Amino acid sequence: MKAIVLEGAGQPLVLKKVEKPILNAGEVLVKIKAAALNRRDYWITIGKYAGIKYPSILGSDGAGIVAEVGNRADEHWIGREVIINPSHDWGDHPEYQGKDFKILGLPENGTFAEYVKVSTEYLYAKPTHLDWEQAAALPLAGLTAYRALFTKGKAKKGDKVLISGVGSGTGTFALTWAFAAGCQVFVTSGSAEKIAKAMQLGASAGVNYHTPDWPEQLQQLAGGFDVIVDSALGDGFARFLDISDPGCRIVFFGGTAGNVPELNGRKIFWKQLQILGTTMGTKEEFKAMVDFVNEHRLVPVIDEVFPMVDAEKAVQKMAESPQFGKIVLKA
Ligand SMILES: NC(=O)c1ccc[n+]([C@@H]2O[C@H](COP(=O)([O-])OP(=O)(O)OC[C@H]3O[C@@H](n4cnc5c(N)ncnc54)[C@H](OP(=O)(O)O)[C@@H]3O)[C@@H](O)[C@H]2O)c1
Repeated sequence: MKAIVLEGAGQPLVLKKVEKPILNAGEVLVKIKAAALNRRDYWITIGKYAGIKYPSILGSDGAGIVAEVGNRADEHWIGREVIINPSHDWGDHPEYQGKDFKILGLPENGTFAEYVKVSTEYLYAKPTHLDWEQAAALPLAGLTAYRALFTKGKAKKGDKVLISGVGSGTGTFALTWAFAAGCQVFVTSGSAEKIAKAMQLGASAGVNYHTPDWPEQLQQLAGGFDVIVDSALGDGFARFLDISDPGCRIVFFGGTAGNVPELNGRKIFWKQLQILGTTMGTKEEFKAMVDFVNEHRLVPVIDEVFPMVDAEKAVQKMAESPQFGKIVLKA
């Protein structure tokens, strides 16, 4: 089969012929119609990710049609249109993942290929209101934002929610989920154009995190926040404590802008704030996320669709973060 292969850190992604995966019982081969990028794929291409191996076929997000099955009992899967949950072997505790947890696309070969091998337990029916590109954009970032916002952040109708760096794939999902749940959503971004796009999707207002007084601006606009969803950390993270209302849940799952700065602990205990880390999500959360998408007929925000052969160009685009939403590869 054809696949996009990473042969070393800093090397371009190249289209190659590789062996088609061999299936065990309980596994299927999904013929990929579209795949999507996550910042994880970019980190891996530049060698900044734990457990990298070469050669690797990257890609955690994918949608396609089941083409082959490992045993006859699974023949009913053949021809079904599916999306793939990339959050594998979560473990026994919904609160946190176990030691065997892994994400599709490293260490197992991922979706930037003609076919991907997956266990049937990670297959879900493709939402019928989504096209292949939209469906492929959903899994990893949609799940992460869902758990961050609802399981960890306990966001509910009427809450004031801040999404930082709304242009990110995860940020656009957090915005979409929060708005659909009836929250009042505010955003930050490094770009006025992206703030305007976020407002078209339901955000009440937004501020540019490059302006030094962005927390004061947000306070004027919103008062304070019940939930803050962040994937950047960096210097700005400390200011979240100032704009949190008492009891605010500050949830984060990434560190795009660097480490956590020094925090004023007194504000954390006096306002009874909760600072919560999260990663991906459980199978139950994935199902709940897909049900939520179907119920509200939600559509992922796509920035650009590249042909699969141009995967290298797509990853390069991510390096400078000009995107608003997901970057997708079409088979
Ligand atoms: N732990 C997990 O399970 C998990 C899952 C998914 C992602 N992540 C992590 O979460 C982060 C986002 O992932 P992604 O795939 O959504 O990334 P992405 O689409 O590449 O988005 C990156 C975004 O980061 C934002 N950003 C950069 N500097 C910022 C700053 N100083 N303050 C606020 N925002 C800033 C920018 O938003 P603007 O364009 O609006 O300025 C940019 O678009 C990455 O670090 C990723 O590794 C973790």
